[in-house]
Amino acid sequence: MNKFIKGSEVPVNPEEKAVAEKEQIKDLLKETKKEAKDLLDVMWSREEIMTNKNFINTMNLKIKNMLDQIIKNLYWYQKIGWKKFLPNREYIEQKEREERIKKEKERLLKWIEELVKIDDFYFSFHGQLDEGKLVKTLSAYGYDNFQQISVLDIGCRDGRWLRKFQDWGVLPERLAGIDFYHPIVDYAKKLSKPGIQFIEAYPDELDFEDQNFDVVLVFGVLMHVLDESLRKKIGRELLRVLSKDGIIITLNLTKDALAKLEPYLAYTSIGLEWEELTDIFPDCSIHFEILSQCGLAVIRKKDCKKEKVDASGG
Ligand SMILES: C[S@@+](CC[C@H](N)C(=O)[O-])C[C@H]1O[C@@H](n2cnc3c(N)ncnc32)[C@H](O)[C@@H]1O
Repeated sequence: MNKFIKGSEVPVNPEEKAVAEKEQIKDLLKETKKEAKDLLDVMWSREEIMTNKNFINTMNLKIKNMLDQIIKNLYWYQKIGWKKFLPNREYIEQKEREERIKKEKERLLKWIEELVKIDDFYFSFHGQLDEGKLVKTLSAYGYDNFQQISVLDIGCRDGRWLRKFQDWGVLPERLAGIDFYHPIVDYAKKLSKPGIQFIEAYPDELDFEDQNFDVVLVFGVLMHVLDESLRKKIGRELLRVLSKDGIIITLNLTKDALAKLEPYLAYTSIGLEWEELTDIFPDCSIHFEILSQCGLAVIRKKDCKKEKVDASGG
């Protein structure tokens, strides 16, 4: 009987179909091998050949049929496109990347759970950027009318910056914060008045429309993402939700500062400076400056039309 699926038996879903067909080819090859092996196991003498004539004839016929079938199917595969069934390098690499990203997320989450108990690290991080500096930076890029802007804070922690923006006049419904550690998200909600949106999410897949935010803050997050392809994926996602003339402001430890940190704090961070940022945000203009232990960067899309007022950012 023909072991290959024909006509209405073929699964409709192309992926299932490919898998089923692969399995069938494998089975067929297995069977061919087994029968060839059975043949080898027979010690053929002249007498034996005579005695086993029927068996040999049957085997020969079977093998011939199988070969015909294989050739028919090879021809069929050739007709519909070989490449579909060959291991696809791009596909394999994509799967490997996804696996690495998954592991990276799990690892970081475990670490954060420990780290939030040791608040010193983040406490010293918060001290790096004062309000005055942030306001000046925003203003230098034309964002001084707070009633008009929308802000997304990536890795918002307890929502401290978003509440500041609310104090400065941004409407709460134009403020959103995400953090991937859910107790922190709950805590941020508890501390804030209703209106600001706090979401438990990872920044490589955001549930916001394209060009939704004028300002995206990313303080102390990218430096924790050790996998380069995940950093790039996050960069693409942030640029997607950033308005055409918007700005991404990011703050990360420098390589020098990292080298001086306690090893257990440093082991899951990397120093992020100009060079790494250009990889994460290609085709963007980046203004980078060092603030003691951190690098502050302002990123804009290349085709941004908004005038920059002060080259130093304040
Ligand atoms: C150094 S703290 C900074 C908090 C806040 N952005 C600030 O400047 O005050 C980093 C925060 O980002 C969160 N975080 C770190 N890596 C993240 C990631 N890959 N995705 C989402 N949140 C992340 C942590 O849970 C933590 O709340």
